[in-house]
Amino acid sequence: MKTINPDPTPSQPQISWEQILSSLQDGVITLDRSGNVSYFNEAAEMLTDLAASHALRQSFVRIFRKEPWLIQLVKKSVPPLQESARGEGDLVSRWGKKVPVGITVSPLQDRHGTFLGSILLVRNLTHRKELEEDLKRADRLAMVGTLAAGLAHEIRNPLGGIKGAAQLLRRNLDHDPSLIEYTNIMTREVDRVNLLIEQLLDLSRPTKLDIVPLNIHEVLEDVLLLELQTKSQATITIKKLFDPSLPPIRGDRNRLMQVFLNLVKNACQAMNGSGTVSVTTRVEADIYFRGQGAGRSQFIWVEIEDEGVGIKDEDLLHIFSPFFTTKNNGTGLGLAVCYRIVKEHGGIIRVDSTEGKGSTFKVSLVVAD
Ligand SMILES: Nc1ncnc2c1ncn2[C@@H]1O[C@H](COP(=O)(O)OP(=O)(O)OP(=O)(O)O)[C@@H](O)[C@H]1O
Ligand SMILES: [Mg+2]
Repeated sequence: MKTINPDPTPSQPQISWEQILSSLQDGVITLDRSGNVSYFNEAAEMLTDLAASHALRQSFVRIFRKEPWLIQLVKKSVPPLQESARGEGDLVSRWGKKVPVGITVSPLQDRHGTFLGSILLVRNLTHRKELEEDLKRADRLAMVGTLAAGLAHEIRNPLGGIKGAAQLLRRNLDHDPSLIEYTNIMTREVDRVNLLIEQLLDLSRPTKLDIVPLNIHEVLEDVLLLELQTKSQATITIKKLFDPSLPPIRGDRNRLMQVFLNLVKNACQAMNGSGTVSVTTRVEADIYFRGQGAGRSQFIWVEIEDEGVGIKDEDLLHIFSPFFTTKNNGTGLGLAVCYRIVKEHGGIIRVDSTEGKGSTFKVSLVVAD
């Protein structure tokens, strides 16, 4: 094995190329002249979900048969072209997991320019895609906010008028129950529109959070009690898998109640009122993220898992956007509000879902100091 330390000293151990390549965050794959894999570093193993022992000496075309775009890219690096090429696309693992990657392919040549094979540098773009999606979402939220603020102003006054008139009307209809019911409907519907406007405004205006150390289990207990009391959901089973050693978190009680109420409501709706909702809490084991503001923070996770209809792959990117709904009576604001609140807490909200099997919404929150 060649080394790159020309003058090793006892305190400076030799570093091999292999050690360097296996320490890289980016995947490195080399192919020989026939297109068989001759090197596959650890990052490549992680990105493809394939062990190097399975990849080595295998035909590249066979391993990446689900990624025709990648095969086209590699073709450019072999004779007659022998060019470098870049591309972006998804790697699909054996289990169907997709990882967005950026790939640079170059021909491997000796000093005389003789073609020896190809080298692929594979970069994981998951984080970048998530950031891009976050930015787009923030943009959309800002737009909705401006629109909402304008609309709210124009709509609230006439709504107040309608509600007042309905109440006056009701007073004069003491003896006709069916007409009274009409005025009740008017009042109720006005309240519904008002609530919608409130939710829209919630998305737009900067809110002042009342952050205190919170026992998240108490918040979750209240949410479950509220959600189960408000509906006759006798056929919904709630499984609580609470970690008793969970530390207090930093949060605004009312806003977090809103988050988990929305998530539990969605879970129940996705199961058409029957099935099991599991609520799990756990401490983030060994990763410490940099939270908002200074210093490093420890995080906890709350997971709400249902056995409902699941979410289509093409919908997954949109569910946190305002007004995205697949329900007849949905506003599509529930998850947009959740996203906003969790972000304001310096947390993360994620979802895993399999169509026809169910979904798991995961929320991470910062542990109180
Ligand atoms: N647990 C879940 N299972 C399956 N699909 C879900 C789940 N949670 C959310 N979704 C999908 O995401 C969409 C957006 O959810 P969101 O809570 O924002 O709005 P909504 O539930 O449709 O309406 P609203 O919350 O305003 O009543 C839903 O319409 C549904 O398609
Ligand atoms: Mg909802």
